This record gives sequence, C-alpha cells and structure tokens, in this order.
Amino acid sequence: MSGISRTFLVTLLCCVLACCAVKDVITGYDRERVVCPLKSFVWGPGLEANFNVPARFFFIQAMDFENNSFTYSPGPNAFQVSIKPTSGRGRIWTQVLDRNDGSFIVRFRLFESYREMRIEVKSGERHVKGSPFLIADPMYDEKCFCPEQNQSRWQSDMHCELELHPQISQDLSIFPTIDLDRLATEAVDRFARHHSLCHYTIINNKVYRKTHGQHVGFKMFSDAFLLSLARKVRLPDVEFFINLGDWPLEKRTADNSPLPILSWCGSDETRDIVMPTYDITESTLETLGRVTLDMMSVQANTGPKWINKTNKAFWRGRDSRRERLNLVKLSRDEPELIDAALTNFFFFRNEEAEYGPKVKHISFFDFFKYKYQINIDGTVAAYRLPYLLSGDSAVLKHESVFYEHFYKQLEPWVHYIPFKKDLSDIVDKIKWAQTHDEEAQRIAHNAQQFARENLMSNDIFCYYLQLLQEYAKRQTGPPVIREGMELVEQPQDTTPCHCSRLSPAHEEL
Ligand SMILES: *[C@@H]1O[C@H](CO)[C@@H](O)[C@H](O)[C@H]1NC(C)=O
Ligand SMILES: *[C@@H]1O[C@H](CO)[C@@H](O)[C@H](O)[C@H]1NC(C)=O
Ligand SMILES: *[C@@H]1O[C@H](CO)[C@@H](O)[C@H](O)[C@H]1NC(C)=O
Repeated sequence: MSGISRTFLVTLLCCVLACCAVKDVITGYDRERVVCPLKSFVWGPGLEANFNVPARFFFIQAMDFENNSFTYSPGPNAFQVSIKPTSGRGRIWTQVLDRNDGSFIVRFRLFESYREMRIEVKSGERHVKGSPFLIADPMYDEKCFCPEQNQSRWQSDMHCELELHPQISQDLSIFPTIDLDRLATEAVDRFARHHSLCHYTIINNKVYRKTHGQHVGFKMFSDAFLLSLARKVRLPDVEFFINLGDWPLEKRTADNSPLPILSWCGSDETRDIVMPTYDITESTLETLGRVTLDMMSVQANTGPKWINKTNKAFWRGRDSRRERLNLVKLSRDEPELIDAALTNFFFFRNEEAEYGPKVKHISFFDFFKYKYQINIDGTVAAYRLPYLLSGDSAVLKHESVFYEHFYKQLEPWVHYIPFKKDLSDIVDKIKWAQTHDEEAQRIAHNAQQFARENLMSNDIFCYYLQLLQEYAKRQTGPPVIREGMELVEQPQDTTPCHCSRLSPAHEEL
C-alpha cells in the first residue's frame, strides 16, 4: 500500500471514530477515548544521530481523533516502538516509559554502532505521524571512540545552551588566570595530606591522572565521565584537580590567592568550582545500565495524580546531620504534617534509642505518594534534589550554604518552598502548602519543567564541556603530564565502530 493511501485510510478511520464517539457530559471528553495514530506525534533529540548520550531518548504525545492531547495515560500499550538498523538485527535495548500525562519517553541504548537506523512508532497497526523515521547518519554506541573535532558543532548536536552557565561564570570569575605550575605544587602541599584529590591532565584527548590521599575510590566517577566525554568530543588540553571528598576545600577568599579546585558540591564559604555531582554524573552514564533511578525513570514513576497524593511532607534518609534527627522528632510531634524517619544510623549511633528504630528503605518512586517532599542537607547538599524536582510533588528545600551546579537557576516559591536551616518554620511552610493547594501544585509543576529542561543527560555533558573550555581559556602555560601521572585507558570497545570523524580512510562506514 502506498504511503498516501495508507495516510488517507487512517485519516478516514479517525474521522469515522469521531462520528461515533459519545461525549461525556461532565468532562467534555469521550468516555472511551481512542488514540488517533496519525495525529499522535513524536519529537525529541533521540531521532538525531549525533545526539550521542548513553541512553538516547525521544517522546511520543498521544492525541485523540479530535486532535486533543491526552493528559492522562492512554494505557501502557498504546504505542509500539521498534528501533533497528536497516540491515541486521541490532543490539539495542529499548524501553517505553509512560509519563502518565498522555506522553511517553522512548529511550534506547546501543551496544554497537550502526550506519543507518529505522525507528517505527505505531499505535495498533498504524504508524504515528512521521513514522517510520530513517536515520541515515552513523549512530555511535557509548563505548565508541569517535570524538567530534569541532566543539561548537558538538554543542549544537547535543542541544547545549550557548550562554555561559551562571554557575560556571560565577565560579571562574575569581580565577582570571590559572597558573598550572603553581597549582600543581600548592594543591598538593595544601590539601593532599588530609584530603583526597585527583590531579588530571588531558592532552590530545587522552586522560592522565595521579591521585593524592587515601580515599580515592570516587575517582571512578570522574574517570568514567572524562573518558566518556573524550570519546564524544575533542576536549581542550587542560590540567586540573578534582576533590574526591564530600566537602569543598578552598576557604581562601578571592583576594588571598585561592586555588581552583573542582568539587562535586559547592558552598558559600568556599571557592571550589562546582561540577555536577557524582550521583547525577553516574546516573547519566549508567541510564539503562547499572542505575535504576535516573532523570527519565523518575518521570515515569511519579505516583498517584496530585489530588490522590497524601497531604503530608515525606522524608527518608540516613542520620548524616543533626537537623535530620530534629526532623524525625518534629514528625513525631506533628504526624499529620510530616512523615520522616531514618533508614540508617552511622553518625549518631548512640542516639538510635531516641530517634530510632531505623525503618526499612522504601523505593524512591514511592516517595511520590506524598504531596510534599523534604530535601534536607546531609553531610553536604542532598544529591537527590534533581530526582525530587522531576517528580510531581512540591519540594520543601532546606536553606543551606551547600549547593549543586544548578541551584543558582532555582527560585524559591517558583521551583520549591524554602525552609530555614534550623527547621523553625517548616511546620508553617507545610501548613501553607496544605492551605494553598493550587500554588503548591504549580510549584511542583515548575520544578518538573525545570528538571526536564535543565538536568537531562545532555545538559550534564554540556556543563562539563563548557566548564573545561572556560577553565582552559584561563590557563597560563600549557598543561603538562606531571611526574607520576598515568594514562587512564579507554574501555575496550568489543564492537569496532569505524569512526568516520577520525580518519578519512574510514569514511566508508
Ligand atoms: C494537531 O495538534 C498539533 C499539536 O497541537 C498541531 O501541531 C497540528 O497541526 C494539529 N493538527 C491538525 C490536523 O489540526
Ligand atoms: C564548527 O562548527 C560550527 C557550528 O556548526 C561552524 O559554524 C564552524 O564553521 C565549524 N568550524 C570549523 C573549523 O569547521
Ligand atoms: C484517584 O483515586 C481514585 C480511587 O482509587 C480513582 O478512582 C481516581 O481515578 C483517581 N483520580 C485520579 C485523577 O487519578
């Protein structure tokens, strides 16, 4: 059947259904709404070959025959997706996630690279608008070493924001120049004895490093990320230190020769340059791999609809800060407002009798049975915030000196409800939320939009590249492979990917 006559038939089908549909007098919608394949549509970067994130993704919007968007799930099997190379079988893991709002996330991870792909999205037997999609450029898998040589082209392929990120701009403003020789000696002298650091040099897109200190296990996160980035894009030559510990290190003020140290967490009291946390970094790399909680899975597991969520503030976590114990006590005084409990005792073991017993872990996704989520500092910022924002609960956020790379973009009362460091107003804030339901729901919605637009895997990659670029511009003198540094090897790619970007000889891929 030709494309035209098929299209015609589907249109006809949609129209026939329209004539027979029965309007629901209350909602104005049809009681038995039917997905109209031809009006349902697909969008998103996962349809572009060069949008190279470990788990690629695009979206489907379900539409009915009257061309209204579904705002609730049309059912888990409303769409069938097939992602395959045009020849051969393909080793691709595909998952369709129901966002329960009429849209779906389709995500897929390639275990090999492919020259040409065909993506089909159907509802029943019918293709949705635009399907099938033919992607005629090579799609490289996560392990393929195939750096795009032109950084701005890569940034555009990855849908990066062009503007300088406000956090990068602020962090680097006190480092107009970076003297690498001074950094190499002073960082070790000042911090290596009591802290754990990793000294990296990247030259010709190869990553070299030397660790300092005793607890250097977390270098696995920075290694993995730098290698992944180097496989995707030609990095600037650059030399820097990553602090592998929780707390930011550099307490010297701007006028007292501070050192530029990269840290997972920033604080108002230090001058460290903040990077995305190891948590979101890992979940970016391991989506559809080792991790189950990531910025996409959380969107499909946001619990009941707002009106059916329990009208309380919820929190679970370990005892890594005194305020967390105080929160548990408050929850006992105000059980109608707060459900908070500790899942582990480590820092305050001798107070377990008073604040325990510890409760069983519950799935993070079950947090969203509650309307309000409490985000309270642990040893530093609580790294669950990106996932909490992605849900559809309103977040109550601890006022804190600690921050992650995106906090500057968040506004109190727009994206979250703030509460004081000593918790003195948290009860009032929860009562406010309970009595201002619409506002609270709007805050939940804004947060979700923010997370979807700013904290997806490409945003994390973009942030790292921009940070390295801006840092590299400030270096005086060339980066050096220092004594004792070793090459961090790229992982073995068991399925050679014939990168066409590296040598013209391979362009036949
Ligand atoms: C249906 O709605 C979509 C999105 O709202 C719009 O882009 C499209 O043009 C509409 N199609 C028709 C046939 O009205
Ligand atoms: C790099 O890519 C940008 C954006 O695609 C383009 O404008 C520029 O000309 C490219 N530079 C080189 C050297 O190819
Ligand atoms: C709320 O829960 C009730 C009872 O389970 C259910 O019938 C109703 O559809 C739910 N409302 C929404 C909007 O999900």
